[in-house]
Amino acid sequence: MAKHDKKDIGVSTILNPVPVVMVSCAGVNADNEAERPNIMTVAWAGTVNSEPPMLSVSIRKSRHSHKLITETGEFVVNLVSKSLCRACDYCGVKSGADEDKFKACGLTPVKASCLKYAYAVKEAPVSISCTVRNVIELGSHDMFIAEITAVTADSYLLDAQGRLCLDDARLVAYNHGEYFLLGEKTGFFGYSVASEDIIAKRMGKK
Ligand SMILES: Cc1cc2nc3c(=O)[nH]c(=O)nc-3n(C[C@H](O)[C@H](O)[C@H](O)COP(=O)(O)O)c2cc1C
Repeated sequence: MAKHDKKDIGVSTILNPVPVVMVSCAGVNADNEAERPNIMTVAWAGTVNSEPPMLSVSIRKSRHSHKLITETGEFVVNLVSKSLCRACDYCGVKSGADEDKFKACGLTPVKASCLKYAYAVKEAPVSISCTVRNVIELGSHDMFIAEITAVTADSYLLDAQGRLCLDDARLVAYNHGEYFLLGEKTGFFGYSVASEDIIAKRMGKK
């Protein structure tokens, strides 16, 4: 068989790679055990609009986080660096209904920028504060469509002009059930039509 001869492999959620993120939230009464700050892992996440900046996360109704996010209309998407990968997996297999996952993972909840109730993960390189604008019931999952109301980033990721450089964040992606550290840069937006000079500058080659 030639390499690109095709076989039908059935219908499934095969889109890969996808981001994997740690979604943090809390209920209205964060001091109450049932509403304490929580983290869940989400792979069904994506950017859905530019103006205003919006993203979506798809969450099953059975998740403890679903209840908290529905109650407050707020959550935080925390990007996952290599050092957070194990905690990220843990937050995807244990429920906040049973334990304090911040404590179990040795992570620090901090009040999220521009939100009233939700907490961010201090150890995450980038945290995206989100306000829910719409919820669509799709079947197995409810899709929370949210407006991005603030973004905070570790200062080491900002250049002299204050621009975010994610190259050093050692981010993790999710590919067919496995976590991968992002590696070699192979291009950039528009590089297929960029000049040699720009390519040399952006790709760090002289
Ligand atoms: C890699 C990974 C990705 C996941 N993606 C999702 C997702 O997109 N939506 C979802 O509802 N659950 C997803 N889960 C499962 C939840 O994170 C898991 O059920 C978690 O325990 C829910 O936490 P909670 O009950 O504290 O909210 C994922 C789990 C893992 C490990």
